[in-house]
Amino acid sequence: MRRVAVTGGAGYIGSHMCKQLADHGHDVIVIDDLSSGHREAVRWGRLVQCSLLDAPALSLALRDARCDAVIHFAGAIAVGESVDDPLRHYAINVGGSLNLLRAMRDADVRRIVFSSSAAIFGEPRQAFIDEAHPIDPISPYGRSKAMVERMLQDAASAYGIGAVALRYFNAAGAEPSATIGESHEPETHLIPRLLRAARDGLQVEIYGDDHPTPDGTCIRDYVHVDDLCSAHLAALDHLDARAGFHAFNLGNGNGCSVREVIAAVRAVTGRAVDVRVAGRRAGDPARLVACTDRVRAGLGWKPATPALEAIVESAWRWHRAPAY
Ligand code: UFG
Repeated sequence: MRRVAVTGGAGYIGSHMCKQLADHGHDVIVIDDLSSGHREAVRWGRLVQCSLLDAPALSLALRDARCDAVIHFAGAIAVGESVDDPLRHYAINVGGSLNLLRAMRDADVRRIVFSSSAAIFGEPRQAFIDEAHPIDPISPYGRSKAMVERMLQDAASAYGIGAVALRYFNAAGAEPSATIGESHEPETHLIPRLLRAARDGLQVEIYGDDHPTPDGTCIRDYVHVDDLCSAHLAALDHLDARAGFHAFNLGNGNGCSVREVIAAVRAVTGRAVDVRVAGRRAGDPARLVACTDRVRAGLGWKPATPALEAIVESAWRWHRAPAY
């Protein structure tokens, strides 16, 4: 049994992580300031309401938690907003992670799994992005994640902290009972937008159908949130046997276009979803798909729910009647 502190545990992926940790018999402490997370999503483990920017309170929280590992989700996620207000993103993502690493060092917590992002790669130079792909982010959001990876590498070699960075591709879906799910305000992600539109009869814009892809719309690698979380459990096991810094790209390795996602949403919901082709969104690469060789071999990870329709179906169970 482990005792794990989960930063951002009241958020979408973090709350799924807490459920999975509890399901596997681990103790959970949620550290979240509820700035974007939901109190109702904290159902597994106790909540310590604390901002990562409040270094003294964070140090105290971590010392009190007496945990043997941290899973670090808390952070700002909106790419567009990071362009408009980069210093806010750096403060939260880089400053918050710096405070967390200091608090871990002082409380002698020696393992961390970090939510990194495919955004660290910038404009992809290959069809399936592997770990050797150059790190060359094109947004402050991506740069903030890349900076934290560098901090983790340095902290790993200086303080003997074991660190795994998981570079997420597109998280989607919800756990089977749909008691928790994705609830961002504002919602910018494709699948929740389409499902809200299906539910409420709204229109969704397709950000460009003139991309260099077979149907002209952008291709992404959608991965079920529970599969993302199972990779974190495997990452903790990985750190039991190893020190140092380790990075894995985390997707299914399947690319789906925006049009394919729309078709899946129509099939799953049985509703006509009104869409309109709009202009491209700045900074959207045409195709972002993971090479999954390293995560499969290194962590022994395998997605349980790789099919797009099954991912959308689980998300629909949440979105048709979200609890928060
Ligand atoms: N899209 C639309 N219409 C919408 C919303 C999205 O056409 O209303 C398109 C986007 O252009 C993109 C695809 O749907 O091609 C997926 O967009 P999302 O906003 O759902 O996800 P992104 O791929 O932009 O971003 C996700 C994460 C980011 C992360 C990025 C790269 O949300 O945090 O992957 O890892 F930076």
